[in-house]
Amino acid sequence: MGRFIAIVVVLVAVALLLNSFLGGKKDQDAVIHDEAPPFVAESVEPEPESENEASTEEEPTEETVTSEEAVMLEETAEPEATEPAPEETEEVEEAPTEPETSTTEKTEAVVAPVAKSVVLGSSELTAGIPGEGELTSEQIEAWLADPANHAVIKPELPLGLAAGAGGIQGLEANPLTRAKIELGRQLYFDTRLSADNTISCASCHAPENGFARETQFGIGIEGQMGGRNSPVAYNRILSGPQFWDGRAESLEAQAVGPIANPIEMGNTHEACVETLQGIEGYQSQFEAVFEDGVTIDNVGRAIASFERVLVTGPAPWDYYSQLTTFEKAFADDIEDLEELKSEEEELYLQYMELKASSEASPVSESVARGGALFFSDKTGCTACHVGANFTDEKYHNLGVGMMAETPDVGRFSETEDENDRGAFKTPTVRNISLSAPYMHDGSQETLMEVVDWYVKGGHPNEHLSKNIKKLELSDQDKQDLVAFMAEGLLSDFPEVETARLPQ
Ligand code: HEC
Ligand code: HEC
Repeated sequence: MGRFIAIVVVLVAVALLLNSFLGGKKDQDAVIHDEAPPFVAESVEPEPESENEASTEEEPTEETVTSEEAVMLEETAEPEATEPAPEETEEVEEAPTEPETSTTEKTEAVVAPVAKSVVLGSSELTAGIPGEGELTSEQIEAWLADPANHAVIKPELPLGLAAGAGGIQGLEANPLTRAKIELGRQLYFDTRLSADNTISCASCHAPENGFARETQFGIGIEGQMGGRNSPVAYNRILSGPQFWDGRAESLEAQAVGPIANPIEMGNTHEACVETLQGIEGYQSQFEAVFEDGVTIDNVGRAIASFERVLVTGPAPWDYYSQLTTFEKAFADDIEDLEELKSEEEELYLQYMELKASSEASPVSESVARGGALFFSDKTGCTACHVGANFTDEKYHNLGVGMMAETPDVGRFSETEDENDRGAFKTPTVRNISLSAPYMHDGSQETLMEVVDWYVKGGHPNEHLSKNIKKLELSDQDKQDLVAFMAEGLLSDFPEVETARLPQ
């Protein structure tokens, strides 16, 4: 019994402690690779602060955490932080609690009740306003009249991403409510935000393409093309500055950019606001959600809220690492299962549960080997693809596109630091098989091509990251790495209603 509590607490304490680590440093990596099981490595939360590689690599090393230390800290650990329990989540039917003003932001017009936690990743928040066919004014009014839709949601993250919950970004400035998320959903899929009614966010970040696009570059209004590949729009809740070069300080700031970008949606913010004001269903929603109604900043807030609930569910690798972490921590106890069952039934039952969930989303041997490689010094992938979302949120030069006559300067344009020349933000590799082609310039078509890029040590140039070196990998190793990313990290997304927009 006490043992059972200890397990939960140990796992959580390790995750929490590692959460305080900074991502991407050599000494930590040694700890991650050599001692900590994969699950723990994934819980290393990258520092949200965006800094260039050169400056972060020189920071002093954080202290390392062993399981023993975690055990000692068990008294203070708080299981809820990383172990979302779906059964405790809010049911829509549940009567909203009394109105409470303290948690709402200044711009919120409606006095909202306080909501309980919602585990993101299910389709509950992205299914649209209830009903079928065209979205009617009556349906919108009924939706807005329900106080539950204005309650501030406390989001929890599903297994996998949950380990990075400490890195959740942006909710204080822009709290989540169902009504705001739904408004953002509509705006995300609405081509009327563009100058000629042809392009929406989904044109370049489509649900069927892993919220990215299969084209090398984003294709905007009148077929115009930029020079960068569309990144994925999911798991943004764990991400601070946006764009390959981090030039948008937040998701809110990012979301209004494409509307006025001449080669994307080709509109002006003024014209966009005017269009939305002219659509009754939008007007009423903006007024109910925000004190100041339709403004371009509120467009950004709503879209950002929708993007924040686009999170990837547990992948086979997440179940597998949860199980293997347990097996390492309780190696002695699980040696004799009969004895365990009779003497410590709860521990036994928990073990059976973890086993069953991993068996329901199994990993192949190739995926298991690939995962071990990914987290090993042999590849060094976790020098950058670290933490729950497999990114340090920092900028690195891999030499991609550096052979061009005038290479994309990347992060340099923001910092004017030579170390940042040709450096781009580390992308997540969760669900990466859905969003080919790869890299900031979409120059690599398959995951094998990407792996080959790392094997050859990237493209040599003055600013190449110190963490990019030639790798000694067999063909089997390379296939295993690809399998790890393509299958081991593939998971469900929330289902998203793509129509049902105000007329
Ligand atoms: C014409 C194609 C196109 C359209 C339309 C478009 N985007 Fe993008 N999006 C891109 C490209 C290309 C980038 C990367 C640009 C860069 O980094 O310089 C990007 C970057 C982003 C990012 C940053 C992701 C990251 O990892 O940093 C987010 C989020 C995003 N877009 C959301 C949106 C939203 C929301 C809309 C609608 C308001 C939208 N996009 C419209 C092509 C598009
Ligand atoms: C030095 C940091 C670093 C290391 C080490 C690293 N990556 Fe990356 N990874 C990045 C960055 C930065 C990009 C984007 C680069 C660009 O577009 O110029 C990237 C891109 C990728 C992409 C394409 C993602 C997309 O959306 O386009 C994949 C897949 C990937 N890396 C896998 C790996 C694997 C596998 C390893 C280990 C063999 C690895 N990475 C090692 C930083 C790193």
